[in-house]
Formats: sequence, structure tokens, C-alpha cells
Amino acid sequence: MKKRILITGSNGFLGQELTDLLASNKAYDVFATSQSINKNSNKRGYTFQSVDLKQTHHARELLNTIRPHVIINTAAITSVDACELDKKGCDELNVKLVKTLAEYAKKENAYVIQLSTDFVFDGINGPYQEDSPTAPVNEYGASKLAAEAILEQAHISYSVLRTILIYGLPKSTSRSNILTWAKNMLSEKKNINVVNDQWRSPTFIKDLANACKLAVDRQPQGILHISGGENLSISDFIYAVANFWELDTSFITEISAKHLKQDKNRPRKTSFILDKAHRELSYVPTPLKESFAIIKQQLHKA
Ligand SMILES: NC(=O)c1ccc[n+]([C@@H]2O[C@H](COP(=O)([O-])OP(=O)(O)OC[C@H]3O[C@@H](n4cnc5c(N)ncnc54)[C@H](OP(=O)(O)O)[C@@H]3O)[C@@H](O)[C@H]2O)c1
Repeated sequence: MKKRILITGSNGFLGQELTDLLASNKAYDVFATSQSINKNSNKRGYTFQSVDLKQTHHARELLNTIRPHVIINTAAITSVDACELDKKGCDELNVKLVKTLAEYAKKENAYVIQLSTDFVFDGINGPYQEDSPTAPVNEYGASKLAAEAILEQAHISYSVLRTILIYGLPKSTSRSNILTWAKNMLSEKKNINVVNDQWRSPTFIKDLANACKLAVDRQPQGILHISGGENLSISDFIYAVANFWELDTSFITEISAKHLKQDKNRPRKTSFILDKAHRELSYVPTPLKESFAIIKQQLHKA
């Protein structure tokens, strides 16, 4: 029997990449859902349904209709500012939905893959292991941590894939990320301000989608850290992009997190120890330069 997989947030950056990856595999029956109409240009190999997952009864109805064996929950309010402005909405989607998914998983013996974030940490004492002490510094991080706790206490089969600053070529041009934003702005010779005192291990979208697929197949238990292998400041990442695409770096202005009022409500430095993901999923991140070369090829084909 084919594995029935439900992907929530299928219109998102990861959601679209993941839908394409899994829908092309005959071993799975893929169901995708998002709040708005299907924004993925590829409509083949899966079934799509628009659902507002903040509405618990709609979420339950969807689960009971599809009856998935595996749920990959990428849906979230992912903007830090949006979560601060709409705490109720953030709680409804980022936390309460996960409770509904866990209840379903318990009843039907389904497996849940929850996407989470480096923002569960305060950024002071990395690199972080899966069991390092958490201390979110904003509402978004707190909501994702609360979701992790629900799964941990639910007595179900689940994994939490924590990731850091996803980059790559999004399928829909309306959804930019740090790489495409910087590359487009510099190509158009526009000035950009970039923070030079926050450090991240940016994650290549294809690595993350592959890790989700491996989690579907191997069903590891508990939290796993999935990120790139190189830790660098946001500004150094932007310089690396600019240098790779031979763009004029004089349009880059380095600023501090304090300048953006982000010194207190964003972790200063996050990086992950990837040993568990390596052990359980054979996860090896693509080196930064190699990922840029893959993106370059994708752009040539587009
Ligand atoms: N992006 C990053 O750098 C990053 C870093 C760390 C962790 N993560 C985590 O990774 C996951 C995926 O991130 P992403 O960047 O791919 O997310 P994203 O592009 O912001 O997409 C989020 C998706 O959630 C859907 N959604 C929002 N409100 C909804 C609602 N009420 N009902 C149903 N669906 C709703 C949106 O659907 P519509 O488009 O249809 O409105 C959208 O497709 C998230 O869980 C995030 O917390 C991301």
C-alpha cells in the first residue's frame, strides 16, 4: 500500500519544494494543503486542498478525510514580526494546530514531522545539540518550542526537524529568501543594508526537502538538527553570494542588529551539531559554494 502523506503549508518555500520532490515518487500518495489557492506551478502527481488550519474543526475534517499515514507540518506563521503583532494567530497556527495533528496521530498511529527553528535558542551558547537548553527570545521561537513540547508529550511517533535560515531558488517568484533578495537587489544595483553581527548556518532548501523525505522513509524519533555546515555572519553570506555571481559589493552596507532593533529579539549566533541527523538520516549538508553552483544551473534552465 502506498504511504499517504499530507504536506501542510504546501504553498510555502519548503512546501513547494517538498511537494514536487514527494509527488514525483510513486511510493507515496501526496496530499498538499495551504491557506490560499494552489500557488505551485506544478499541479501534477498530488491532490491539493485549500484549508485554513487555524480553524481546528477544518483541520480535523481534513485529517479525517485524507487519513494520512505521515503528516509533514511546514505550515506556520514564520515572520517574527507577524508573530509579535498577532500572538493569537501565531498560537492558533504554530501551536494549536500541532495539538490537533498529535491527537490525530495518536488515534490513527500516524507519524508527524514537524518543522522547527534555531529560534528556540537564545544564540548565546551554540553550537547547539538537540538537547541543549532552549530559551527563545521572541514570540515566534516560543510558539515553535511550545509545538515541540506538545509532540514530546503526546506519546506518538514523530520527529522535529529544526532548521536555520533556508535559502535557494523558490519556485514562485513572489517568495524571496535571503539569497534571491540579495542577488536581485545587487543585480539591479540597489543599496542593501545587511547585519554583520548575527551568525547563522544557512540551510540549502534541497538539503532540507531531502531530509524531510528521509524522515518519511526512516521515521526517526525526536528532535533532529538540519542545517548547512558552514557558520557565517549574515553579511558574509551576502558577500559570498555577491562574489559568486560577480556582483558589485559596493552596494552592500554593513549594519548592526541594534540598528534594526534586532539585538534583543533575535538570537545572535546559531549553529547546530549535525551528528544525530548524520547518524539517523545519513544527512550531509551541501557545501555553500556547491549549492550556489546548483542554483546557477537551475537559473540557466529556468
Ligand atoms: N524559512 C526559514 O528560513 C525557516 C527557518 C527555520 C525554520 N523554518 C520553519 O520551516 C517551516 C517552513 O518555512 P517556510 O519558510 O517554507 O514557510 P513559508 O514560506 O512562510 O510558508 C508557510 C506556509 O504556511 C501556510 N499558512 C499560513 N497560514 C495558514 C493557515 N491559517 N492555514 C493553512 N496554512 C497556512 C502558508 O499558506 P499560503 O501561502 O497558502 O497562505 C504558507 O504556504 C516553518 O515551519 C518554519 O517555522 C523556516
